[in-house]
Amino acid sequence: MKEVDLVIRGAQVVSPDRIVPAAVAVAGEQIVAVGHDDTMPPAREELRADGLYLLPGAIDSHVHFRDPGYPHKETWKTGSAAAALGGVTTVFEMPNTHPATGTIEALRIKQKAAEASYVDFGIHGLLGDDTIDRLEELLEGGVTSFKAFVGNTFGNLPAPTDGALLEGFETLAPLGIRTVVHAENSSILQRRQKQMQAAGRIDAMAHLAARPAVAEIEAIGRVLTLAEWTGARVHIAHHSAADSLYLLREARARGVDVTAETCPQYLLLNTDHMRTLGGVMRLNPPIREPRHNQPLWDALMDGTLDMIATDHAPHAPEEKTRPNIWECDCGFPGVETQMPLMLTEVNRGRASLMDYVRWSSVNPAKAWGLYGTKGVIAPGAHADIAFVDMSRTGVLSQNKLQSISKISPWNGRAVQGYPVHTLLRGRFVMREGRLVQDMAGWGRSVKSVQRMPTAKPRNTEHYSSAILRTPPGVPETATPVGEIDWSRA
Ligand code: NCD
Ligand code: ZN
Repeated sequence: MKEVDLVIRGAQVVSPDRIVPAAVAVAGEQIVAVGHDDTMPPAREELRADGLYLLPGAIDSHVHFRDPGYPHKETWKTGSAAAALGGVTTVFEMPNTHPATGTIEALRIKQKAAEASYVDFGIHGLLGDDTIDRLEELLEGGVTSFKAFVGNTFGNLPAPTDGALLEGFETLAPLGIRTVVHAENSSILQRRQKQMQAAGRIDAMAHLAARPAVAEIEAIGRVLTLAEWTGARVHIAHHSAADSLYLLREARARGVDVTAETCPQYLLLNTDHMRTLGGVMRLNPPIREPRHNQPLWDALMDGTLDMIATDHAPHAPEEKTRPNIWECDCGFPGVETQMPLMLTEVNRGRASLMDYVRWSSVNPAKAWGLYGTKGVIAPGAHADIAFVDMSRTGVLSQNKLQSISKISPWNGRAVQGYPVHTLLRGRFVMREGRLVQDMAGWGRSVKSVQRMPTAKPRNTEHYSSAILRTPPGVPETATPVGEIDWSRA
């Protein structure tokens, strides 16, 4: 047998339906064998991993690395280092940088910055009124997917009009490309915030009062209506409210290709924590009342919510701790703490490791067209592996975060279960809990391995959407107006 680069022995390999003791052989960037010890080829390096679990590396669909634009908050190098430390091997990075990722020039700047990445990545391009004519160009330029900030948030990107959202979905539906939506109703948020401010409210609870769950319910409903009409694939970011889960269930039952994430903060934190943590916990959508926590767990368990993302949204400590809540930036870091937090819940018996890998890796890999290459420990897949020690205990400390943003609501939280090594395409980017410094730049775009099957667009025979794609002049295939079957329109 040909010598391979690495054989890992003594660990248990985790997939969504089983946990099996198995050895894993890695040659170059790929897994080449998973099986009994005796069947392994000779290797340059043999690694004992007794007592550890091998999980497919986590795929975080929602991170903000702030680069270009806000290097005092985060950079690609520091954000991706945090990911590697957290057992995360692939991230999808958000477009609310400066410049926002809505032009080819801005995309090129981001791609240059991402050359420093420790982990693999996708780039979400911006879907807004001003970018609607450039979606195909951005896709050709390398974005993997799009993001629509339907609710206002950090970066103050204007929410797309409903008309632009519909047109964007009409363009993307036949291409099979999925759009992430920050689903909150901008007009509700803006009016409520003004009212709170006029009433002199500057406390943390006023942020929640300004962003009631109905803003999320309404926006998710609207987005799903447009997705169903067009056949576009959509992804609901940071699902925070119990009350909007039924919309996901109903839309799926009608055949809408919607995926949805929630984040550890919506599962494990609530207004009780906000009273003491204040602005540190300010984020969008807001962390809500305790009654939302358990239904979100239940929705992960029953598959209504597909995955855990982090919305890693780093800011400087001084930007998070101002006395006036409206002056505290929204968001906090998370890519590094997600795995220990969730593994702690697994240790508490709230879910199994098999459930966890479905949420952390398998389902995001499927949503973004990477499954088979990523999201699985099997021959032919990328050797992206989080080595997990379920018995290791510790206390999360914001000062020890790899992220530049050393402020976190998880500071001081006791956890059990840590990633101890992170392998990305056959190379360690984190080993024994330490970053492998010279692996900066090993990360690369997943665009070349992404396979999004073409979706079946709907309602494209409708005259109003057909005309959008009609180039100037009368195309040969145009139906004379008199012959259009209006009964189908
Ligand atoms: C995010 C950020 O800071 O970029 N903030 C947040 O509160 N979630 C933006 C976002 O994801 O909405
Ligand atoms: Zn958002």
